[in-house]
Amino acid sequence: MTITPPAIRTEDLVKNFGDTPAVRGVSLEVPTGTVLGLLGPNGAGKTTIVRMLSTLVKPDGGRALVHGYDTAEQSREVRSLIGMTGQYAAVDEDISGWENLYLIGRLLNMGRKEARSCADTMLERFRLTEAAHRPVAGYSGGMRRRLDLAASLMGEPRVLFLDEPTTGLDPHSRNELWEEVRTLARKGATVLLTTQYMEEAEALADAIVVIDHGRVIASGTSAELRERIGGPVLRITPERPADLTAVRTALIASGLRPAGGDQDTDRVCLPLSAGGHELTSAIRVLGEAGLPLAGVDTHVPSLDEVFLTLTGTGGPGSPAGGSATNDELTRSAA
Ligand SMILES: Nc1ncnc2c1ncn2[C@@H]1O[C@H](COP(=O)(O)OP(=O)(O)O)[C@@H](O)[C@H]1O
Ligand SMILES: [Mg+2]
Repeated sequence: MTITPPAIRTEDLVKNFGDTPAVRGVSLEVPTGTVLGLLGPNGAGKTTIVRMLSTLVKPDGGRALVHGYDTAEQSREVRSLIGMTGQYAAVDEDISGWENLYLIGRLLNMGRKEARSCADTMLERFRLTEAAHRPVAGYSGGMRRRLDLAASLMGEPRVLFLDEPTTGLDPHSRNELWEEVRTLARKGATVLLTTQYMEEAEALADAIVVIDHGRVIASGTSAELRERIGGPVLRITPERPADLTAVRTALIASGLRPAGGDQDTDRVCLPLSAGGHELTSAIRVLGEAGLPLAGVDTHVPSLDEVFLTLTGTGGPGSPAGGSATNDELTRSAA
C-alpha cells in the first residue's frame, strides 16, 4: 500500500540570512484539501517559509515537500503544482490587468487562445473586467489583491500559498478575499495562508500553526488554541493596592493558581476553568483572610489577546507591550 504524502510538508526547515536566523527548524504538515493558517508577527519567518516551499529560496537545513516533491531537488515538479501570491508576487504595475494575466498564461505554456480566454475568465471571476485594460498602477489595493490572486490561479494550482493576502486591505476588500479563499478551499485546493491576524486564521484555516522568531510556538485548531490559553480569567482588584501580594498569597495558599503579575499594579488575575469554581473559592478565601476588594470581574480574552499571549508581541492594531491581563496570561500559559 502506498501512503499518499500530504500536500505540504516541512521537516525541520532552517534558513539563515547571514547571521540572522530566519527559520529555525520548522516542521509542519498540511493535508490535501485543507487550509493551514501560518500565524505570526512581523519578522517571524512566514515569508521565508513560503519562499522555501515555493522553490524561490533554498533551505539551509531540513526539507520542504509539496505533494512529496522536494522543493530544492525537484523544483520543476513543485512549480507545476503551486500558485503563489503575496509580498513577492509578480504583478507588473505598468501594464494592464489583462496583459498581466495573459503573460502569466503564456509563461505557463498556454497557447495564445487559451491564455486569452483564461485571462478573460479570471478577470470576470474577480470582478476586474471593467478595469481589465487599465494599467495596474491605477488599481485600488483590493483590486490589486484580486488580480494577484487571479494571477496565482492561472495555472489551476493544486497548492496555493497566500502570503498575508489581506494585510493593508479595508474590511470590505478583506471579506471579499476571504470569500475567494473559502471558495478555493471548497473546490479542494490546499492552501497555506500566512497572516498576522488571529481572526483571519480562525475565519479561514482548518488548522493554525503559530510561529515566532522562526520557531513553531503553538499549533492546533483555533478552538484548541483558544481553549488552551485563551480561557476566561477572573480579575480581582483589592481595595488597597498594598494588599496585592497578600491577595496572591492567600489564593495560592488555598490551592488556587493566580497568574504571575509582577508588572500588574492593581489586580490579580485568576484563570477560570470550565465551571468557574475558582470564582466562589477566591471570594470565600479572600473574605476569610479579611482582604477587602474593590472589584471582581471576569474577562474573556479576544483572539488578538490570545495571539499576544502566544507571541508576547502586539499583533497589528494591538497596543505595544500588552495590558497587564495579557502579561499575566503569558505567564500562566508558560
Ligand atoms: N532577504 C533577506 N535578507 C536578510 N534578512 C532577511 C531576508 N528575508 C528575511 N530576512 C529576515 O528574516 C526574518 C524573517 O523574515 P520574514 O520571513 O520576512 O518574516 P515574516 O514574513 O514573518 O514577516 C526577519 O528577521 C527578516 O529581517
Ligand atoms: Mg512576510
